[in-house]
Amino acid sequence: MTFVITTPLYYVNDKPHLGSVYTTIICDTIARYKRLLDEDVIFITGVDEHGLKIQRTANEKGIEPKSHCDEISEIFNNNWKNWNISFDKFIRTSSKNHELVVNEFYERVKASEDIYMGVQKGWYCVGCEEFKDNPENSSTYKCPIHQKNLEWKNEENLFFRLSKYQKDIEKIINKKSFIEPIERRNEIINFVSRGLKDFSISRTNVSWGIPVPDYDNHTFYVWFDALLGYVSAISSNESDPSLNKSINGGWPANIHFIGKDILRFHAVYWPAMLISAGMKLPEKVYGHGFLTREGQKMGKSLGNVLDPELLLSKYGNDAVRWYLIKDISLGNDGDFQNRRFVDIINNDLANTIGNLLNRTSSMSRKWFDNKVPNIEKRSNNNQIESLTKIAIEKYIDKFNTYKLDLAANEVLSLATKTNLYLNDNQPWLLIKEKDNLNVVKEIIYNVLESTRIIGLLLLPLVPDLSSKIDDQLGSIYKKDVPWKEQLRWGLLISNTSLPKPTPIINKLDYE
Ligand code: MSP
Repeated sequence: MTFVITTPLYYVNDKPHLGSVYTTIICDTIARYKRLLDEDVIFITGVDEHGLKIQRTANEKGIEPKSHCDEISEIFNNNWKNWNISFDKFIRTSSKNHELVVNEFYERVKASEDIYMGVQKGWYCVGCEEFKDNPENSSTYKCPIHQKNLEWKNEENLFFRLSKYQKDIEKIINKKSFIEPIERRNEIINFVSRGLKDFSISRTNVSWGIPVPDYDNHTFYVWFDALLGYVSAISSNESDPSLNKSINGGWPANIHFIGKDILRFHAVYWPAMLISAGMKLPEKVYGHGFLTREGQKMGKSLGNVLDPELLLSKYGNDAVRWYLIKDISLGNDGDFQNRRFVDIINNDLANTIGNLLNRTSSMSRKWFDNKVPNIEKRSNNNQIESLTKIAIEKYIDKFNTYKLDLAANEVLSLATKTNLYLNDNQPWLLIKEKDNLNVVKEIIYNVLESTRIIGLLLLPLVPDLSSKIDDQLGSIYKKDVPWKEQLRWGLLISNTSLPKPTPIINKLDYE
């Protein structure tokens, strides 16, 4: 089964910020999880390169838009590699194959008689690349997202007959599974109930875009162009890319992950465009929340933008991933707080998980000849085995419903309970009596086995940390055995050699 997951295609007006890193990490986690379940994943990311915003950014730098886009796209691509993002496709909307797909798509929409020439008048936010709904006093109105004045536009544009799809869209958004989370769905239901208006899909004052066939001076509106990146990405590596190849190669997407500010484009405009072109619709659009920093909106003018590259080099991939996944409930807004970040990493990863592994492995090495103990007889009533089974079930259920913070918490809670089991049983006291040897062997085995499973469950969430746990347990994950099967209790082999333990994550200090 193919599972297609997409990040938004990021504007190349600037290098990646924490918001783009956040969405990309979330998608990466889900893509990794689906691969572990042996699904055939196509994980799409990329960049949105056309339009007025990018044209102006390049002009301000005094360079051609193409060279500007080459430079920033490269930064995005490299950045995702530095973050160990397991994307399958990286689409650039300025590429020839993408243009081809946009043109083919446009022909289909035209054949459905959904394109006409009209006059577009209104207030436009260049940052959002969007006309705003009749602001009351437009001369003082600033875009609430970009805090910049809107610009008045009055020009002949081609229009798409969105209004024709009112009923279809109502039906789609009323399906509970289409838009998540629920609050976002309600926003869209509200918006659509006010009546859909046709929207313009070409521009005459933007040269940096895909030319509209047969209309001199018209380029496609950047959103009409960018949304198709999700489709063109699928056949982008083919020698002869086309719309049909993309359709046959895996379309429709199973899930589009986006920020809440671009929900209308994905949950209203995009489905209507797809119906018009006779194409299948994505299964789900998930609108996540916004990240703030220490309670404040991040922005260049506020001077509080958190540089993700700096975070990565200072704290490493695992720490940032764990914080963003575990501390922010997907769908809600989240706040990045430095002290909280340090506390969470130290408590969860260093103390709870790291320490559990470290101390148990040390005891095992000391008492059982640097090996996993050899257990002869297992007791029937194994409390830690039951806890592990319950944790796995809950974790899978949370992952399948995209409650990643809760899935992460399940793993953490298993580690906490395993630590408690160790403390309650006090093998360091029991070992003093020779008669207790078998009991001690069993306790240590149970804790190491629970830690093995914790490591496996961490694989999609913090892959580097997970493989460090594996190293410390004697490299026992098997690539050729399905991951789910490896979650079965009791697979840790007695007498496996344990290497000398080293901390799997360094403790962090407050700034
Ligand atoms: N180019 C369009 C998307 C086209 S998809 C076919 C775009 N790009 S963007 O770079 O401006 O935004 C990309 C994503 O980043 C959006 O989903 C947006 O919601 C998200 N975020 C921007 N700032 C954010 C935060 N502070 N926090 C979380 N996500 C944020 O829109």
